[in-house]
Amino acid sequence: MKEILRRAKELAERIRREGFVRVVTHIDADGITSGAIAFESLKRAGIDCEIEFVKNLSPDVLEKYSNDFIWFTDLGSGCIGDIVDFGIDCVISDHHTPNGHYRYQLNPHDFGYDGSYDLSGAGATYLIAKFLSPFNYDLIQLAIVGAVGDLQDSKECKLIGLNRYLVDEGIKLGFLKAERDLRFFGKQTRPVFKMLEYNYDPYIPGVSGNERGAIGLMKRLGVPLKDGDWRRWIDLNTNERRAIVSELVKICIKHRYPLSVIKRIVGECYILVKQREGTELRDAMEFSTLLNATARYNKAEIGLRVCLGVLNGCDETAFKKARNLLQRHRRNLSEGLKIALDRLESYGNVQFFHAKDEILDTIVGIVAGMCYCRADLNKPIVAFANCEEGVKVSARATQRLVDLGLNLAEAIRRACEKVGGRGGGHKIAAGAIIPKGKEWEFLEEFSKVVGEQIKSQPLRSRT
Ligand code: C5P
Ligand code: C5P
Ligand code: ZN
Repeated sequence: MKEILRRAKELAERIRREGFVRVVTHIDADGITSGAIAFESLKRAGIDCEIEFVKNLSPDVLEKYSNDFIWFTDLGSGCIGDIVDFGIDCVISDHHTPNGHYRYQLNPHDFGYDGSYDLSGAGATYLIAKFLSPFNYDLIQLAIVGAVGDLQDSKECKLIGLNRYLVDEGIKLGFLKAERDLRFFGKQTRPVFKMLEYNYDPYIPGVSGNERGAIGLMKRLGVPLKDGDWRRWIDLNTNERRAIVSELVKICIKHRYPLSVIKRIVGECYILVKQREGTELRDAMEFSTLLNATARYNKAEIGLRVCLGVLNGCDETAFKKARNLLQRHRRNLSEGLKIALDRLESYGNVQFFHAKDEILDTIVGIVAGMCYCRADLNKPIVAFANCEEGVKVSARATQRLVDLGLNLAEAIRRACEKVGGRGGGHKIAAGAIIPKGKEWEFLEEFSKVVGEQIKSQPLRSRT
């Protein structure tokens, strides 16, 4: 930790020498929170700045940045070669697998940590922001939302690694509460039966996607649905919550779910205690989905305003707009999931679907991850969707596959080399853009690499 803080301090000093900084960040929850942390900390340090949101850093995009000093957040590490070739003056705070060494980079991989779980882009950016000016501790709220947005808590059902240091700091500073609770989406804002109905992780037979089943479960347990208004999870008392959790576990046991799946129902959940109860802003999981609902639809500036509102007083207009976008996002995800599950088919060592123009390229990766509620847990999922630049590829895996040696970022890189695409990411989730018409060739190479990765592991880890 000492070393990483030393690097953060050095980078903050580098930034402080500049009169103007352009923040360039990624269009997802971790990207928005990273950007908001960088933007706000620059303002507080009295440094002029602007912020831009990008899907990825292709050479065409990078070319635009040769004249300013850039702070890349939640991206940059995957294209250090291009950044150096274009002579871009910059610092990078990122957690994607780096494709080279760069002196002005804060990336957990450089310090022996795993960028998929140990620190997010927002966490890396927060560490630098802490050294930019003295009163930046409130930004920790956004660092936690960024980590949860990237599903960094998914491995052990709690934040681990360097994120743990941030959680402890957030609690000590009075911004955060961490409690063991149900890991379902919507505990602050949704009627309990709706929260149960819309949960697919894990899929609960008779409850997931089944409104009557979800209502029936509550009635069976004697948990009232209404108390004037529909009751939300936060309105339930401890006994009612326990009864529901244990019923969900019982259903899973009855359906012979593996313990590793059942264990995921409950985990550490993160509450932003300074935010209004009953709003998306209070719960890190709901907050991050609210942000994805803006950024993935080209409305990242609304998400940014919501984040800045958390620090400086709620921006009600932006918050309202974000909530409207969230309705559409939810609809798109559930319609997208139906399309994806209909089309999902096995191919060699992987399973895949082509969304064509029917799922947006910016959310097809989220949908691919959701497919695991029904898909084969022993094969990674590859999703294709048409996009302006060609074909978007998103790949997702399970933790078990990663433990067996799977590395999607590497598989994507090798398959891209073969077909002339560009991509990157993490072992468990990666993405790329490839030329139109190259899908089969890509899939063939990708499947081959996946087979090699899993086979090359010593037998004892393949149990
Ligand atoms: O670009 P970035 O690294 O911020 O995005 C990480 C991506 O990995 C997110 O889309 C997140 O949902 C995905 N992920 C996943 N499963 C995990 C961990 C991360 O799908 N267990
Ligand atoms: O876009 P998607 O959600 O599938 O992204 C999964 C991971 O792959 C993210 O970490 C993202 O930053 C990375 N990715 C990338 N290059 C792309 C697309 C995605 O590095 N062209
Ligand atoms: Zn990220």
